[in-house]
Amino acid sequence: MPPSPALQAISESAVQGHEADEKYGDAMNWDELEFGVIPTDYMYIMKCSNGDDFSQGHLTPYGKIELSPSAGILNYGQGIFEGLKAIRTKDGRIQLFRPEENALRMKMGAERLCMPSPSTHQFLDALKQTVLANKRWVPPQGKGALYIRPLLMGSGPALGLGPAPEYTFLVYATPVGSYHKCGATMNLYIENEVRRAIPGGTGGIKSITNYSPVFEVVKKARAKGFTDVLFLDAATGKNIEEASMFNIFFVKDNVILTPPANGTILPGITRKSIIEIARDLNYLVKERDVPLEDVLAADEVFCTGTAVEVTAVASITYQDKRIEYKSGEETVFHKLRVVLKEIQTGVVEDKMDWTMLID
Ligand code: COI
Repeated sequence: MPPSPALQAISESAVQGHEADEKYGDAMNWDELEFGVIPTDYMYIMKCSNGDDFSQGHLTPYGKIELSPSAGILNYGQGIFEGLKAIRTKDGRIQLFRPEENALRMKMGAERLCMPSPSTHQFLDALKQTVLANKRWVPPQGKGALYIRPLLMGSGPALGLGPAPEYTFLVYATPVGSYHKCGATMNLYIENEVRRAIPGGTGGIKSITNYSPVFEVVKKARAKGFTDVLFLDAATGKNIEEASMFNIFFVKDNVILTPPANGTILPGITRKSIIEIARDLNYLVKERDVPLEDVLAADEVFCTGTAVEVTAVASITYQDKRIEYKSGEETVFHKLRVVLKEIQTGVVEDKMDWTMLID
């Protein structure tokens, strides 16, 4: 794919500014990096009217955007987002992990919410421009990543219920460290009353409206010392679906189980990659309902997501019962995590063709 003229210009200035880039964000203390917003230099914006296709976007200094008070996203939640990371490889280059998958997922979400979406080419070009323009914010290898947040929203005014007359695709990026300060393991709590997604709803897309409804239960669980919450399916209340923002895996006798991404579960890209790595290593992976009996019986549990990466679950609590799980270097979790990390950081050859070097 030929780089856009804007990308070429950014690449050239990035090369000229190479010496400064090597300082990685000047005064940043990369060891203190958390998962929070650090304003960076540039963001990318592209707009189109309803019924048209996106055509030409541009970089602009990172900052506030102007929205009508009656914008579709503010009034009717017409918006989706994506999340992916630009990672510094061991030889100092910058790569993305399966960004086409994010482009496709955004397209799927846009169709569900009646929005036009950028083409895969436009999406990838916007990611590259944003990362290269913010190159000095990509943390050194092993210190974190530049988290990229593509947003697609109904930005035009709409009072009557219906799709907005104008759409904005925006990409910003911010350097991040580990998602949970607790570090290497999580303690999860199974929520028995609030449901995250319903069949036929929007649980399977990255709609902005999927996230704030879980704030209250996650807040309560955190106050009791848990890291996060696992939700049960709305139809029966018997099967584990996913957590507030990550997918979940169970291991029993070396067989890997994970709930099927059939509409109420977000089809995570880390989830998909872990399944493919596990199958490649000859593990049996079953995508099927995971009832509470399997939670009680599992040897290991781990979760996957862009933000949380692949993290071990130390315990799950259901009502008053706490179940603890194996951890350490002999686990299936550990083997899968290492393979994924090595691909993402360019330590091993990427035989899957998942990574995209962008500098
Ligand atoms: C991600 O893993 O990229 C997410 O979307 C998590 C985000 C809700 C913090």
